[in-house]
Amino acid sequence: MKVRAWAPGRVNLIGDHTDYTGGLVLPMAVDLGTTVELERGGPWVELVSTEEPEPAFVVLGSERDPREWRGWARYVAGVVDVMQPGAGGVGVVTTTLPVGAGLSSSAALEVSVALALDFGGSALDLALVCQEAEQRASGVPCGIMDQLASAAGVEGHALLIDCTSLEVTPVPVPDDVEVVVVDSGQRRELARSHYGVRRAQCEEAAAIVGPLRQASLAAVERLERDDLRRRARHVVTENARVAAFADALRAGDAAGAGALMVESHASLRDDFEVSTPALDRLVESLLATPGVLGARLTGAGFGGCTVALVRPGTDVSASGPVWRVRPSAGARVEVVNPSGRFA
Ligand code: GLA
Repeated sequence: MKVRAWAPGRVNLIGDHTDYTGGLVLPMAVDLGTTVELERGGPWVELVSTEEPEPAFVVLGSERDPREWRGWARYVAGVVDVMQPGAGGVGVVTTTLPVGAGLSSSAALEVSVALALDFGGSALDLALVCQEAEQRASGVPCGIMDQLASAAGVEGHALLIDCTSLEVTPVPVPDDVEVVVVDSGQRRELARSHYGVRRAQCEEAAAIVGPLRQASLAAVERLERDDLRRRARHVVTENARVAAFADALRAGDAAGAGALMVESHASLRDDFEVSTPALDRLVESLLATPGVLGARLTGAGFGGCTVALVRPGTDVSASGPVWRVRPSAGARVEVVNPSGRFA
């Protein structure tokens, strides 16, 4: 049987480095994504990609660590390793996402591969399997945001995700704003080690003040170690900004939402220390552009992309390579009949 699975990338509007602390995030699935066309069956998964010179070839039931595969094949191996599908398949991967730029191309690959391999659970189950696959493939102790945004996206909406309860609440994106992603061009070689260090610092802070989701700002300010105090302060204030941002979107207060993005960037820069001079300059240049309501780094930081909320038609191309993205539905899979059309 031939299937076609598609999974979107995501951009995070606000709420970074909060997911792995059980906090709040507000990403949206975007209208750029990854497609896997697969002829299901057989004892292995064999995929070629139009973006990659090397194919991915993973034998089902192999005991090999996914990190032994090179490049993109790791993520395919990670999905197979966690999901243990009943059958493999042979197929082709294409994508409209920029790879490695911070729009979660790896999450889109994992989710589309899992669906092509006949994953049968809920969007949340799919996201949990793919989060585990990402962790095994990359060694980065990532949170649930990217995979859940890709699996559970809702057209026209951003997703307020409570990373303690894993409840997803769609929040409409108003018609009088656009979301643009601008690439800093800086790739994130150091992201792996720094990401793990930040996560460990949040865990150390939580061991003293209790879960950061419930911790008060006053308790966090009493932390003696300067690094723990600042990391925890970012998380506590960012959770409050995510909730306020969701309220602003619902109220159609685009200017208020934009102001919260600017505060979020400052907190990620000063307290969480995951920005870079290139990202800071890009955010400043965006904020100096008429029609831009707010801008911030998005995702893990250490390079990658910024996201801006703008009035429709605002031209930010002077600041860097731009993707105008629309809030999209989540991942899906369809059977392709022999004529090549969807059944
Ligand atoms: C990466 C991770 C996510 C999240 C962000 C930062 O994208 O995969 O789980 O932690 O960084 O918000």
